[in-house]
Amino acid sequence: MALKIGIVNQKGGVGKTTTAICLTDAFTQIGYKTLIIDFDPQANTTSVFNVGTPEKTIYDSIIKKVPLKDVVITGNAMGDLVPSNNDFKKASADLVVGKNGENKLKNAIAEIEDDYEVIIIDSGPTAGIMMDNVLAAVDGVVIPMEPEQFAIDGLVSLIGNIIEDREELNPNLEIYGLLLTKYDKKKAPHRKTYEQFKNLDETIIHKFNTIIRDTAAIPSVHGFKNIDTPKDKSEERILNAQGSIFKYGANNNGTKDYLAFAKELLEVISDE
Ligand SMILES: Nc1ncnc2c1ncn2[C@@H]1O[C@H](COP(=O)(O)OP(=O)(O)OP(=O)(O)O)[C@@H](O)[C@H]1O
Ligand SMILES: [Mg+2]
Repeated sequence: MALKIGIVNQKGGVGKTTTAICLTDAFTQIGYKTLIIDFDPQANTTSVFNVGTPEKTIYDSIIKKVPLKDVVITGNAMGDLVPSNNDFKKASADLVVGKNGENKLKNAIAEIEDDYEVIIIDSGPTAGIMMDNVLAAVDGVVIPMEPEQFAIDGLVSLIGNIIEDREELNPNLEIYGLLLTKYDKKKAPHRKTYEQFKNLDETIIHKFNTIIRDTAAIPSVHGFKNIDTPKDKSEERILNAQGSIFKYGANNNGTKDYLAFAKELLEVISDE
């Protein structure tokens, strides 16, 4: 059975997709057989995996009952992918009217989870039935947060939602912890939020020691498709990495931080 990890936060732009991709990549580099599921109609993960227009997507699996194994795209060095696209926007309405709508992702994964050691789910910035599906399907969640004002306030309601859903959908669900992302120590508001983050009550939520630093290489590497013809060595290096911060190089902060985070997460999970 695979270890299943959801990356959730209903707040947009906090680093969910980045964390999902880099964590998948890190686990693959460590040696695990890894799958990432793009559970977001924005399809940002699918875009970084550069698979063109996928024939079948998560929408086909969740709503049209296509087996998930027929949706998986193999061949990327970062890991296997279940792609998404804009069709998935319709899913939330379909799921609400259907029966057992919260468990569709869980049931779809059950068919293939023996093929993988780790399955990571990138969820979109929404609460409701889409997030319920993720919470019902996984062993635990990682909550990325930006070091911005009000980030902590939003967390209270997010953690409340997760705890409420846990009782109903998945009593064994773990909240692995809070991951500070995009941290720039030169920015005073970031330092202030970091202090608040450190002071959060550990009995309410675990805070990961690894902090993901703001690293220009991350958006560059994930945006490699913006480069048509590389105009210098730096663009050539970005293009060659094909979306993998690990392939881009061992010495950038993105690679170092996400590798450290993957190892820390495994320790947290094995302690539970
Ligand atoms: N550590 C980082 N350093 C620099 N930029 C980053 C970092 N992490 C994420 N970003 C950038 O921040 C933006 C938002 O990140 P991302 O798409 O991962 O957030 P998200 O939570 O998935 O957003 P959404 O809620 O829309 O799905 C992206 O442009 C991404 O490249
Ligand atoms: Mg995203």
